[in-house]
Amino acid sequence: MSDPSVAAQIPLAEPALGGNEIDYMVDAVSSGWLSAGPYVRRFEDAVAAATGSRNAVACASGTAALHVALLLAGVRRADLVVCPTLTFIATSNAITYCGADPVFLGCDDSLCLDPDALAGFLEDGCETTDVGLVELSTGRRVAAVVPVHVLGTPCSPRVFDVAASFGLRVVEDAAEAIGSRWVGESLGGREVGTAGLLGVLSFNGNKLITSGGGGMILTADDDLAKRARYLVDQAKDDALRYIHGEVGFNYRLANPLAALGLAQVEQLDRLVAARLINFDRYRERLHGGRGIRLLEPPPEVRSNHWFYPLVVDPQEAGIDRETLMTRLRELGIQTRPLWYPNHRLKPYLGSLSFNVDRAVWYWERVLCLPCGAALSAEEIERVCEEIAKALPAVSA
Ligand SMILES: Cc1ncc(COP(=O)(O)O)c(C=O)c1O
Repeated sequence: MSDPSVAAQIPLAEPALGGNEIDYMVDAVSSGWLSAGPYVRRFEDAVAAATGSRNAVACASGTAALHVALLLAGVRRADLVVCPTLTFIATSNAITYCGADPVFLGCDDSLCLDPDALAGFLEDGCETTDVGLVELSTGRRVAAVVPVHVLGTPCSPRVFDVAASFGLRVVEDAAEAIGSRWVGESLGGREVGTAGLLGVLSFNGNKLITSGGGGMILTADDDLAKRARYLVDQAKDDALRYIHGEVGFNYRLANPLAALGLAQVEQLDRLVAARLINFDRYRERLHGGRGIRLLEPPPEVRSNHWFYPLVVDPQEAGIDRETLMTRLRELGIQTRPLWYPNHRLKPYLGSLSFNVDRAVWYWERVLCLPCGAALSAEEIERVCEEIAKALPAVSA
């Protein structure tokens, strides 16, 4: 969510390049393999190893990966697909690319898809018919659920139970969450992106690890992985003679970008550890501030803490999120709100939405604090100091 046009003294997030990035990229470029090439499989294997996924298929972006994953999950024209309203628009757009429409639900206190809202919608708003689960007001098939691991925090494991009890396939949007996992009884030990039928990662420049642009489809199913490879590479039946078996996509990841991604994934543990240390610093420093609260992930998950969401209660804090954001920007500190709830965005005004009040409540109050791996203890101190100064109720 970083904006390259803003030159901040303390930026929201910067890529952390401290490993083999340049060596691998020079090697990739000088090898002459600029489109397909050996770094792609090496990157895929490294991501599969890091996530414990049986298969990983590289794509040009997380959005492309989501599009193909939804097709592989059986999403078709005129279907409905359940997703959270609090997400980057790519989640909703990928559903739309399939000719389907999103049904937007709200969040729980982790900011992720609310399992109770999901159960409520599926129980009260749908019925099981010969063609599967059908939404009552439209008569349209509900084809899948797409939970998003918002800001790196894994969604409730109950989302998977609820979806399974209605026979629904799950495609995890883990775009922001590589390195996060469930640690409680349910799904304990599983990395995000590996609990659903398919999972998707993004390696966009603002993510915890980056390939400049890129994404990955994760799945335990070998047939789905094989089909994913086929679809992202123009559905070639005979590459020499240009025989294509169906309408595929040019969604491959380029070899030099895979080289960058490989160098980054080699540093995943270090980069997650840095995010955790900085989260603890913020927590310690902001603790007790009147009207502000750093949002903690629930105990059953280990978040990669990609972003640090601060909840600002305007009444108690004496300042609202928007004013605090502006104040910090003037001081050279870059922060950002959450995404605009998708059900309120122009392309999705006609879509169904249920139980979105809590999502809107958080959207109005959350400010994401600087979170790059290179952030120093002094910089965190300065951010917290400026926040404290901006809160009249605290500094009085
Ligand atoms: C939740 C979410 N979904 C999907 C995407 C799309 O990924 P990409 O930008 O790689 O297309 C992103 C990030 O950009 C994201 O944050």
